[in-house]
Amino acid sequence: MANVTIMDHPLIQHKIGIMRRKTTSTKEFRDLVSEVAMLICYEATRSLPLTGVEVETPLCKTIVHEIEGKKLCIVPILRAGLHMADGMLGLIPNAKVGHVGLYRNEETLEPVEYFCKLPSDAAEREIFVVDPMLATGGSAEAAIDILKKRGIKKIHFLCIIAAPEGVERLKSAHPDVEIFIGSMDERLNSNGYILPGLGDAGDRIYGTK
Ligand code: PRP
Ligand code: URA
Repeated sequence: MANVTIMDHPLIQHKIGIMRRKTTSTKEFRDLVSEVAMLICYEATRSLPLTGVEVETPLCKTIVHEIEGKKLCIVPILRAGLHMADGMLGLIPNAKVGHVGLYRNEETLEPVEYFCKLPSDAAEREIFVVDPMLATGGSAEAAIDILKKRGIKKIHFLCIIAAPEGVERLKSAHPDVEIFIGSMDERLNSNGYILPGLGDAGDRIYGTK
């Protein structure tokens, strides 16, 4: 069954608390998306394999540990995932970045695909799909379907806020995907928004409402 990690780090909880406030400005919100994503990324990369490499310090030779292969790829779900990718690149600057464009149909709440561009060697990479919000789970499920159809196997999903409904949907659609969550909220409202949540993440990042 899917492995779910809910972050309990005080810095993450503090920053998400600021994001939830409706008085938080667009700029501050956008910066916090990047910062929280970087902190979640720290945990999500914990199991990356290391390999020993000989180096010479100013005093002698020694073995240091480096990340093996370095074949990583971040895939933000547009639009809101973009700023999570920026934050993660601060920690893993050599990762490649693919993009999947999806929006939720406001009536059916089902995702509509409008864009997909991935590195040509994406199938050989370890993939980190990122989106601040896991609400019904439709967008995450669809994005991962798209990646798997292109032969991608090793996938992690990172979000800032999740609803239990979305986590259950994602776990049952993609039990092999590791899920990392900044905060597990209470439930969805009748319009498919997460409660207490933080509103529409894309609108808050880009100031479109
Ligand atoms: C938001 C969010 C997720 C999706 C989550 O995107 O960024 O992609 O909703 O909802 P779900 O789990 O019910 O699918 P939105 O559709 O508002 O698009 P946007 O990022 O372009 O604003
Ligand atoms: N998408 C968002 O941006 N916020 C929600 O609460 C649900 C879906």
